[in-house]
Amino acid sequence: MPTIKNLECSRCQETLSAETPQTLCPKCKGSLYVRYDLQPLRGAGARDAIAREAANSPWAGMWRYRSVLPDVQPVTLGEGWTPMLPSKRHPAAFLKEEGTNPTGSFKARGLALAVTMARHYGLTKLAVPSAGNAAGALAAYAAAAGIEAHIFMPRDVPFANYVEAVAYGAHVTLVNGLISDCGRIVAERSKAEGWFDISTLKEPFRVEGKKTMGYEFVEQLGWEYPDAVFYPTGGGVGLIGMWKAFAELEELGWVRPGKRPRMIAVQSAGCAPVAKAFDEGASASEMWPNAATFASGLRVPRPYGDSIMLEILRESRGVALAIPDEEILASLRDWAKNEGLFLSPEGAAATAAYARLLASGFLQPSDRVVLFNTGSGLKYTDVTAEAMHIKRPSASS
Ligand SMILES: Cc1ncc(COP(=O)(O)O)c(C=O)c1O
Ligand SMILES: [Zn+2]
Repeated sequence: MPTIKNLECSRCQETLSAETPQTLCPKCKGSLYVRYDLQPLRGAGARDAIAREAANSPWAGMWRYRSVLPDVQPVTLGEGWTPMLPSKRHPAAFLKEEGTNPTGSFKARGLALAVTMARHYGLTKLAVPSAGNAAGALAAYAAAAGIEAHIFMPRDVPFANYVEAVAYGAHVTLVNGLISDCGRIVAERSKAEGWFDISTLKEPFRVEGKKTMGYEFVEQLGWEYPDAVFYPTGGGVGLIGMWKAFAELEELGWVRPGKRPRMIAVQSAGCAPVAKAFDEGASASEMWPNAATFASGLRVPRPYGDSIMLEILRESRGVALAIPDEEILASLRDWAKNEGLFLSPEGAAATAAYARLLASGFLQPSDRVVLFNTGSGLKYTDVTAEAMHIKRPSASS
C-alpha cells in the first residue's frame, strides 16, 4: 500500500496534508482528491501481482487494489470484486452487479474507505445525509468499526434503508424533504454535535473507495477499456471516482493504450439536473424543483460535484440522459424476465438508457459497454411493488 502524498483540490490544485482529517479545500471549497506517488508501481509487474496476491490475501474484494489505496488497516465487510455478467441478449454488454456488495449497493465501497479512514484518524462520530443506500452502508461500517453513525434521510426512502440503519444501531432521523434538506441539517448541526460530515464529495475518501469500480471492470475486461460506461447518477461519486481510476491506470501503465470509455450519466426525468445542464451546455447544474422518482438514489436535486461530472461527460464524448420512470420500470421488468436479474430502479435506468442509445445509433450493438446495477432490486421491494401494482394476495383470494 502506498502512503498518501497529499490531498489535492479538484478546482484550484491547492495541496493539503492527509495527516489530519480534511473536508473541502479551505481556499475554494472544491472537493479533494487523494494523491500518491505511483511511480514505484508502474508497469505490468505490480499490476499482475494484484490477482496473484488477491488469491492469498486475507482481505477480499476491493482491497485487491490495496496497492493504490491508503496504507491503513481496512474496516471491511467483503465489499467489491463484484460480478461482470454478460447479457444474454446483448453479447457486448456486461452488467456490473453491485447488488452483491455488503448492504446490497455500491455505496459499500465508498463508505468502507471513509469509515476505514475515520477509524484511522480516531473520529468517533460520523454524520451523513443520504438518499438511502449510503445511510445503510455507513450504518454497517460504523457498527463494524465501533463508531457512532448519525443518519438523515428522506422520510419516504425505501423501507429497507430505514430498517437496516436502525438494525445496525445508527441514530436515524427521517426528514420531511429531500437529501438536500438532510445535507443542510447535517451541515448546521455537525460542529455543535462533534460530528464529522461525510457527505458526498465533501471529504476525499468516498471517491477513493468508489474508484475501485473503475479498476475492477478494466481488470475484468483484461485491462482494457470498454467503449462506454452507463452510470446511474445522483451525487456522481462513482462517475468521478472511475474517471480518477482511469487517470491513475494510465499513469501506472496498467491499461492497454486506447480511448477512455464514453461516460453515460443516467438520471430519472423526475430529477435530472445534470442531464439538463449537459443539454444546455452549462458548466453547473441548477436546483431541480420538486424532484420525484421511484429511483430514490437518483433524487439528488443539485449535486455538489456537478461541474466535475459535466467536464468528464464532455471530455469522454459521453452524454447525460433523463429517463422517465415508466421506461425505467419497463426495463426493470424486461431484465428480470429475460435475463434473470432483479435490478434496482437506478440500475434499470442504466439498462433503459442503453436501449435508447442503441436505438438512436449513438452506440452500436458491437460496442463493448458496462452497465452499472448499483444496487440490489431486493432493497426496493416496497417501491417496486407499488410501481408494479403488486399486492400480497389475501388468504381468501
Ligand atoms: C442504488 C443507487 N444508485 C445510484 C445512486 C447515485 O449514486 P451517486 O450519488 O454516486 O451518483 C445511488 C445513491 O444513493 C444509489 O443508492
Ligand atoms: Zn481549491
